[in-house]
Amino acid sequence: MAQEDVFKKIVAHCKEYGFVFPSSEIYDGLGAVYDYGQLGVEMKNNIKTYWWQSMVLLHDNIVGIDSSIFMHPTIWKASGHVDAFNDPLIDNRDSKKRYRADVLIEDQIAKYDEKIEKEVAKARKRFGDSFDEAKYRATSANVLEHVAKRDALHERYKKAMNATDLDELKQIIIDEEIVCPISGTRNWTDVRQFNLMFSTEMGSTADGSMKIYLRPETAQGIFVNYLNVQKTGRMKIPFGIAQIGKAFRNEIVARQFIFRMREFEQMEMQFFIKPGTELDWFAKWKQTRMAWHQALGFGADHYRFHDHEKLAHYANAATDIEFLMPFGFKEVEGIHSRTNFDLSQHEKYSGKNIKYFDPETNESYTPFVIETSIGVDRMFLSVLCASYEEQALEGGDTRTVLHLPAPLAPVKLAILPLVKKDGLPELAHSIQNELKFHFNCQYDEKDSIGKRYRRQDAIGTPYCVTVDHQSLEDKTVTLRNRDTMEQQRVAIADLCGILQDKVSITSVLKGL
Ligand code: GAP
Repeated sequence: MAQEDVFKKIVAHCKEYGFVFPSSEIYDGLGAVYDYGQLGVEMKNNIKTYWWQSMVLLHDNIVGIDSSIFMHPTIWKASGHVDAFNDPLIDNRDSKKRYRADVLIEDQIAKYDEKIEKEVAKARKRFGDSFDEAKYRATSANVLEHVAKRDALHERYKKAMNATDLDELKQIIIDEEIVCPISGTRNWTDVRQFNLMFSTEMGSTADGSMKIYLRPETAQGIFVNYLNVQKTGRMKIPFGIAQIGKAFRNEIVARQFIFRMREFEQMEMQFFIKPGTELDWFAKWKQTRMAWHQALGFGADHYRFHDHEKLAHYANAATDIEFLMPFGFKEVEGIHSRTNFDLSQHEKYSGKNIKYFDPETNESYTPFVIETSIGVDRMFLSVLCASYEEQALEGGDTRTVLHLPAPLAPVKLAILPLVKKDGLPELAHSIQNELKFHFNCQYDEKDSIGKRYRRQDAIGTPYCVTVDHQSLEDKTVTLRNRDTMEQQRVAIADLCGILQDKVSITSVLKGL
């Protein structure tokens, strides 16, 4: 099945089973805004707990905060977001649709890549086993022509973006004959800068209201509180502050489901360090964060680093952790060495001294910062994509199964009486009433046992117990494993001990 179709199925699956719904659906939805359903919220909370505990529980020099979404507007001036948090946009006059100029050009670059791959695939078919792919790529006139065009375009685009040359971006769109996907025309406006921050008014107009912004990142709430936390928590450098919270960006091109949203959630940690030590800490956090991802067991081949060649003016190192989504390797987390840019800016704009006093050396300095910043929703999407499988079973049957890591699964255990009579529901309820204090259980007595197993497979429940007539006699049940579908008979009294370790966040934290 084409990866595009797999992705469509995952999106439909999310809605069908209560993971993610389009926001305001009965009013035809709201672009790039989504609601998490009854299972989605459980899984999202598990992801957040895994992150929070790996930061705050496992590091005695990292503490958490919860700062507000509304902050003083000068914060966004100081951070550079008012002046520079922009995307270049362009409108098509015929369709009245708005696009990101950089995305139109990147899509055009991808089209050259597609043409190259098509040529190679055609040749592979033609030459069969004797096909020498490397030689073909190096010598085919058609391939070389596409490569040359792609590289020239890429170079021109990079230059225009680096220089923020909006006229040149428009010229590239014209020269490449890029058309609007809706109207099919090249009737483009000029390219303009568009600030991604949402703004609103605080206070009544009579009192003189103030324009404020919905935060586009949670990080600034940490920067402006760093000295409060350092002093009240008696923190010594190096130390970190972690935060999970909503962020808002008026994305022009919002696509790929919850990958790019206008309202989303971030898990950010700023690690405050002594200037000069930043590249060592950057390397350490790169490795720590990759280990956190890989501990979920999807396989190292699902991840890669993408080190930034072009750095923001305040950064001296940056990388993305990319995850293999059905639409290619995509950024899930950023790790940035941000120097002392943000703290220095806040010092300048607030006029307050926010330097750190080092009691050991008796010196004051503005700390440098390593930031780890991951999107909860992108993490959620990556886990779902890696877990989704339409599995062919013996006998021609199929099942849709989510191989979710058990600690992230919304429901850990389904409790299923074989029939709705003979005292089996009562025993099943008594098991649920005991285990519900330890982990999330779901009781289900409707339909055949086979159908109930399929329902639990589809929502990623790692274990099911079936209560049958033998259970009444010897107080045992069958325990079914989602992935292997194997069943074993276990004592009801042993269930909690057997499962607790497998389904708890602690089990994955211990693997770090
Ligand atoms: N404080 C640094 C910062 O915000 P970023 O690379 O802009 O850096 C960090 O964002 C992470 O937030 C990304 O790696 C991604 O996971 C998530 N993210 C950013 N924009 C997003 C959006 N529109 N929708 C969903 N997640 C987003």
